[in-house]
Amino acid sequence: MKEVLGIDIGGTGTKGAIVDIERGIFVTEKIKYATPKPSTPNRVIEVVQQLIKDFNWQGKDFGCGFPAIIKDNTCYSAANIDDGWLGVNLQEFFKNHTGSHVTFTNDADAAAVAEMTYGRGKGRMGTVILLTLGTGIGSGIFINGSLFPNTEFGHLLYKKSVFEHYASNGARKKKELSWKQWGKELNTYLNHVHFLISPDLIILGGGVSKHFDKYGDYLEVPTELVAAAMGNDAGIIGAAMMSLKDTLQRS
Ligand code: BGC
Repeated sequence: MKEVLGIDIGGTGTKGAIVDIERGIFVTEKIKYATPKPSTPNRVIEVVQQLIKDFNWQGKDFGCGFPAIIKDNTCYSAANIDDGWLGVNLQEFFKNHTGSHVTFTNDADAAAVAEMTYGRGKGRMGTVILLTLGTGIGSGIFINGSLFPNTEFGHLLYKKSVFEHYASNGARKKKELSWKQWGKELNTYLNHVHFLISPDLIILGGGVSKHFDKYGDYLEVPTELVAAAMGNDAGIIGAAMMSLKDTLQRS
């Protein structure tokens, strides 16, 4: 059985679990801590070190979902995390502080990897977009079974700002929107995304996906739209899957 630690660093919470990669399920309970504020590298790494201790995972490879653009292991954006991450080589920083080889994946891409393998996207070809509705909005796009990494569809311009400030679950909470008010914003957003890329399937992820019955009626898009099967756990599972893939490629 292949078991790997997955950690999902988010704008609000940082969570981890050990994942059975062959079945896409947790083999431990999920442990969650608040992401420190400000979420500077030195403060976030303390939470990661705590999770490593909790799961007794010292020195072993693991995977990490991170809420930013990541290219060549370097962080290139900081919408919902501290600016101190910009330009940081995440892999080197984590190696220095944990002793582990850590595989980094954008958090929404990680969630999409899991959802395409074990969840609502399983076996689906064509264009599939998973949108994580959390503190911000992340996007993970698969085209005929292959990931198109680092898309940022939460950052489409809207009302002199970006859509994630209106249609994320964070925006719903901050502005105290009713499900109906928020559903309408989300509907505008989904239709815009649909117009831009004509996806065959849209999967709504993030913790709020489990409340789909409360806002689903306000959404009308000319394509198939479903709530994620794995909710907030997808990011952890996908991060662990990417770690194993990386470990196998390196050996
Ligand atoms: C970031 C994305 C991230 C998303 C969800 C956005 O603000 O730019 O990289 O995937 O939030 O955390």
